[in-house]
Amino acid sequence: MRRGLGIAIVSTIALTVTACGSSSSGSSSSSSSSSGGGGSVSGAKTLAASAMNSPPKGTITYCTGKDTTGDAAYTVAQFNAKYGAQGYHANLVQFPASADQQRTQFIQRQQAKSGSCDVFSSDVIWTAEFSSQKWLYDLTPYVTANASKFIAAPLDTIHYSGKYWGVPQTSDAAFIYYKTGEAVPSTWQQVYADAKKTGGIVYQGAPYEGLTCDFLELAFAAGGQVLSADGKKSVLNSPQNVKALELMVSGIKQGSAPQAVTTYMEPESDQAFDTGKYGYLRNWTYAYAVHNTGALKGKLHAAALPTFAGAGKASILGGHNSVISAYSADPGLALKFADFFASPAMQKAAILKFSLAAIIPSVYHDPDVLKAVPYAPQLLQALSQAKARPVSPVYPQISQAIYTNVNDALAGRVSPQAALQKADSQINSALATF
Ligand code: GLC
Repeated sequence: MRRGLGIAIVSTIALTVTACGSSSSGSSSSSSSSSGGGGSVSGAKTLAASAMNSPPKGTITYCTGKDTTGDAAYTVAQFNAKYGAQGYHANLVQFPASADQQRTQFIQRQQAKSGSCDVFSSDVIWTAEFSSQKWLYDLTPYVTANASKFIAAPLDTIHYSGKYWGVPQTSDAAFIYYKTGEAVPSTWQQVYADAKKTGGIVYQGAPYEGLTCDFLELAFAAGGQVLSADGKKSVLNSPQNVKALELMVSGIKQGSAPQAVTTYMEPESDQAFDTGKYGYLRNWTYAYAVHNTGALKGKLHAAALPTFAGAGKASILGGHNSVISAYSADPGLALKFADFFASPAMQKAAILKFSLAAIIPSVYHDPDVLKAVPYAPQLLQALSQAKARPVSPVYPQISQAIYTNVNDALAGRVSPQAALQKADSQINSALATF
């Protein structure tokens, strides 16, 4: 989900990119750790942790992507029920389902210094870009006081340039969903072979952020990477990445996935799976609650992403953070809302009702949660082992290079080799812009 090329403005301040997987924060032992070290952001406004204690009364606006699950509306309603009598309110604004379009919407407001989104549900990949633009409050005092409450991997996604730029909200990882009676796939190759016999696999193949994730899950499992270890150049055009893309492309050519996946984002892949025609669905954890209803109730299973034959396995760390706009008129109330979102009660509700990945560990062992989301232990493990997408203020351009060219290959317009060669050179051009 995301993007709006040309809209991403790269600041002229000195920045360096950290490569995927390089760690720096010291706050995480996770393989997803990737943020903290790169870049240098100075001059941002810092919010004191105490600002949320008795902020000015009023209403803050919470902006988020399409509320597919109902979690945003639920959290806002609970906040208003708890604090309304004290004069504190939150209002919900929904952006489109596409991550790229959510980013564009937020950027337009920040460029206008409008402050109309006090709190924004920011995808984990935007921390470097938004903080570099000084669009966010520095929340280091609040986060360091609360750091021990959070799972390391999502916490690390708000760490950049030695500071924390948001409050963890939900984490995310993808699974292969399938129905009782079908085989549990152990390799990606097997997923594609089995899919051919069971109607096919549906996933997110449209040219947007989701496709970058779907491709990198196979590419990282095959042993590929996006950037060199120093983060300075693209290593996308590698034999491992070509192999991963070849599997996806031949999957479409040979009928393991419908050609229509090249136009699917999350909602379309859910709708396709709902028709009952397809054996497998690759989607994020929210999809369990969405599909474990009606005729599928009790018959839906979630498998951790498989191994790439002859190589390893990988999942991509997703999720969102509550970031506070530097133009908010009531940042203290915004922090009160972000803190409420991260509270044990809201986190338990998020996983229990909406199968969203909580950012605090205790809920994964809660008996109610284990009953509602049987794969909760595997979800926690997937988060801890997930790989981050590259951390860079120009990540949006890097991702656009990946998803545009991968989509061209999936649609049969170019060969996998040619697609990755072109993406590789576009990534190097993006890296050269700062
Ligand atoms: C999910 C993930 C997010 C990712 C997006 C791609 O919302 O949580 O991190 O960027 O999907 O579509």
